[in-house]
Amino acid sequence: MDKILVHGGRSLEGDVRIGGSKNSALPILAATLLTKEKCVIDRVPDLSDIHYMLTILGRLGAEVERASGVVQIRAEKIITEAPYEIVRKMRASVCVLGPLLGREKSAKVSLPGGCVIGDRPIDLHLKGFEALGAKVTVKGGDIILSADKLTGARINLRGRHGPTVLGTGNVMMAAVLAEGTTVIEGAAEEPEVIDLARDQMGLKLSASQLHAADGRVWLREHRGEFDVVSVIPDRIEAGTFLVAGAIAGKRVTITRTEPRHLEAVLTALRTAGFDLSLTSDSVTISPNGSRRPLHLETLPYPGFPTDMQAQFCAMLATMEGTSVVTETVFPQRFMHVAELKRMGATIDLDDHRATIHGVERLSGAPVMASDLRASAALVLAALPADGVTEINRVYHIDRGYEAIDEKLNGLGAHIERVKA
Ligand code: UD1
Repeated sequence: MDKILVHGGRSLEGDVRIGGSKNSALPILAATLLTKEKCVIDRVPDLSDIHYMLTILGRLGAEVERASGVVQIRAEKIITEAPYEIVRKMRASVCVLGPLLGREKSAKVSLPGGCVIGDRPIDLHLKGFEALGAKVTVKGGDIILSADKLTGARINLRGRHGPTVLGTGNVMMAAVLAEGTTVIEGAAEEPEVIDLARDQMGLKLSASQLHAADGRVWLREHRGEFDVVSVIPDRIEAGTFLVAGAIAGKRVTITRTEPRHLEAVLTALRTAGFDLSLTSDSVTISPNGSRRPLHLETLPYPGFPTDMQAQFCAMLATMEGTSVVTETVFPQRFMHVAELKRMGATIDLDDHRATIHGVERLSGAPVMASDLRASAALVLAALPADGVTEINRVYHIDRGYEAIDEKLNGLGAHIERVKA
């Protein structure tokens, strides 16, 4: 199993280019099952989660070709069963349910297992499918969906912890091929959900029946024979590199990004005392000496993203004063706290709230990556730490960051990847 060694103490400076969004690309790739036509998707990031999704699509019968960031998919003939051995590696594989149900009125997909960031039910996805007219059965670890026909409906998808991102996408994908209009209330409004709604137009599907999360559907440009949809920039990768700049930077610029999707993160960084300058597709962060602790609460978009919580904990661990971070989306998502404490952080964890007493410096230690964003937080914490931090189980980080070690080294960090 690969590990990463971060030699702490280098300062970062320069530009880093942000890739396409993983969380946007995954459901867009699944949406190609909705049509027999060839789909071309651009700016698909090179990540292991994307590779799993392409493997699943291939096993369902789609022809998949990939050349650097461009993926071409033709799902002319498909089967509707995805067994455990192919879906177990990635929770987001549930987003083939919606398109299979929409197109074939039938799906049998293994129920994904648990996840370290907490119990991750899919009851809201199933509620949406039922409202469209599907019969839902869970048997032998599989979710079995069947319908004679799907009919548009008014569906409320708001759950105990707010809206569901993949659930909204899943129900949208089934609903585009249902008869009549579907209105999803309590829908997630994350940019990835809006991107999916927009790209279903690009994939030449009938979006006339669809009311997307906030009623907005964009038309795509038409390039050549096929519409090409281009995945939006990854706002979580962007935020992670801004925090790297905040923690260890003299001046770091993220490019090919979408600052409008980063507002909550930019506000938090400004409140913490960092200088930010923006263009239409870049953000530059520079320290200005005076820093302030933060009170943060994760919320659905446009609130502060849960996917940036761990990285901010790493930053606040070395900022003077006491910060409080409250997690409302995935209340158990604090696996990184124990590892940050191994590096010398002082953090009290009380239910879904972390109280962080900033210390002057962290020190390198062997630590364990537990999930994607927690792993990124450990890399960030290690950048200014004394000595070497050894991060094990880095396959978690490769699920969602394209060459994070190489990109940080390009800014001046000293990170080695040790192949197992
Ligand atoms: C997506 C993102 C993930 C992000 C999360 C919240 C992808 C591939 N993943 O995950 O990175 O952290 O949004 O922004 O896009 N819930 C239910 N019932 C359901 C579905 C969800 O109770 O049927 C709960 C969850 O347990 C959680 C909350 O709703 O407490 C939000 O989860 P959800 O938005 O569904 O997360 P994902 O779409 O799985």
